[in-house]
Amino acid sequence: MNKVIEVKHPLVTHKLSIMRNKETSTSEFRQLTFEITSLLTFEATKHFEMESVKISTPVCDTQNQKCSGKKPAVISILRAGNGMLEGMLSVMPSARVGFVGLERDEKTLEPRQYYYKVPQNMDERNVIVVDPMLATGGSAVSALNLLKKENPKSITFVCLVAAPEGIKALQTAHQNVDIVVASIDEKLNKNGYIVPGLGDAGDRIFGTLKKEK
Ligand code: PRP
Ligand code: URA
Repeated sequence: MNKVIEVKHPLVTHKLSIMRNKETSTSEFRQLTFEITSLLTFEATKHFEMESVKISTPVCDTQNQKCSGKKPAVISILRAGNGMLEGMLSVMPSARVGFVGLERDEKTLEPRQYYYKVPQNMDERNVIVVDPMLATGGSAVSALNLLKKENPKSITFVCLVAAPEGIKALQTAHQNVDIVVASIDEKLNKNGYIVPGLGDAGDRIFGTLKKEK
């Protein structure tokens, strides 16, 4: 069964509280998305394999550890996932990057795929999928259905806010994908928005907000 890790760290919770406020500006929302994601990266990468290396410090020779194998791949679910990408790359600058374009139909809440491009040799990489919101879980499950075909070494799903419904859907469909999340919220509302949530993440990151949800 997959692990669900809710990162209840004061810095993460504090930053997320500011993001939830509807008065928070686009630039601040984007910056906080960056900052929380960089903090979540530590939790999302702790299963990475290490190998022993010999290093000469200014003082002596020593055996130490470094990450082994091919570079990890960070996969952004467009478009809101792109808000998290830089935060992850700020602490993992050599990671490879891919994109899955999905858009949720506002009425049916079903995701529609419009783009797919991922790095080569995915079967030799640990994969981290980023999307700020896990609501019904439809988008995450669709993205993971596609990525599983690449047979990666591991897949970890990282989001800012999740609804219990989305976590259940993802756990049911993908038993070997761990979830790292800043907050598991209460529920979904009738429009499929997370309560209390933070609204439409894509609109708030990119400044395309039209109306209250
Ligand atoms: C949002 C969000 C997720 C999806 C979550 O994207 O970024 O991808 O909704 O909802 P679900 O769990 O019910 O599928 P949206 O479809 O609004 O597209 P956008 O990122 O382009 O704004
Ligand atoms: N997508 C969002 O951006 N926010 C939600 O609350 C649900 C889906």
